[in-house]
Amino acid sequence: MLAPMSGVTDLPFRQLAWRFGAGLVVTEMVASRELVGNASESWSRLKSSGIDPHMVQLAGREAYWMGEAARIAADNGADVIDINMGCPAKKVTGGYSGSALMRDPDHALSLIEATVKAVDVPVTLKMRLGWDENSINAPFIAKRAQEAGVQMITIHGRTRMQFYNGIADWDAIRAVRDVISVPLVANGDVATRDDANEILRRSGADAVMIGRSSQGRPWHAGVLAGAVEHPDAAEIADIVAEHYGMMLEFYGTDIGLRHARKHLGWYLGRFAPQLAAQEKAAIMTSTEPATALSGAVAAIAAGAGLVEQKDAA
Ligand SMILES: Cc1cc2nc3c(=O)[nH]c(=O)nc-3n(C[C@H](O)[C@H](O)[C@H](O)COP(=O)(O)O)c2cc1C
Repeated sequence: MLAPMSGVTDLPFRQLAWRFGAGLVVTEMVASRELVGNASESWSRLKSSGIDPHMVQLAGREAYWMGEAARIAADNGADVIDINMGCPAKKVTGGYSGSALMRDPDHALSLIEATVKAVDVPVTLKMRLGWDENSINAPFIAKRAQEAGVQMITIHGRTRMQFYNGIADWDAIRAVRDVISVPLVANGDVATRDDANEILRRSGADAVMIGRSSQGRPWHAGVLAGAVEHPDAAEIADIVAEHYGMMLEFYGTDIGLRHARKHLGWYLGRFAPQLAAQEKAAIMTSTEPATALSGAVAAIAAGAGLVEQKDAA
């Protein structure tokens, strides 16, 4: 599975990951209250085309808005609603949503119940191990969530207080496996096929979700799943060009250019390590789409062959 990542897994990225064989892809989190309030960014995050099932992640802190947003998402094509209880960002936890919900399981359950009740489509849950090392309560919440009707649970093997520091604890995810019977997805620091096999073995999970290791390689979940081979240098250059075009079309040129920059940076970082920092910056910050793209594609075509074997491993 491809992990939901705000600012990364927009529709163009998910369409590519899906086409390359990711088992499931999830939207960036959609703020429930903002969606109900008709915010244009929320609607943009909700869009899908050519992806089946269309899995929409919602974040929020009040049962009412979660239920309403779930209804809107389902009415607009969501096949699965995922609830975010993992985001550690202060902007999100400061509003007591994301992983902050894990500090108050009763309140978290009220959101889950409202979401399940609002829609006929399956509801899933993504969370961390707990708020901090002294409050590992993912098994407790997972069990209650399953009783409330949640049909799949993803665990990122870190606490909220770890943010993205340290390493994910794949063994700790097993405590959730022991108390639920719905599918369990394990997540955190999986980059290679060996990692994927190891997290499955240690956690007892049914599936693996990858996030950061797919940045700059939307095909990576498909490669780990054995659905496709790692693309060669010429194919990578073609994918980058296609991705770039998809982003400009999806967002329009001005905003598309801005969003595409970070993806170009990831592609160049992975596949054009020979590029001097100044040249890389010039490509990324070019306001002329054709110039940015031709520079990136040429650099990747030159560099990708060199790193291809290492990356494929
Ligand atoms: C840039 C970024 C944005 C993220 N946005 C979300 C999000 O919107 N919803 C969510 O549940 N998790 C989000 N996450 C967490 C990831 O889904 C995933 O749990 C985490 O990155 C650990 O997996 P990884 O080690 O494979 O990256 C985000 C992570 C990153 C790096």
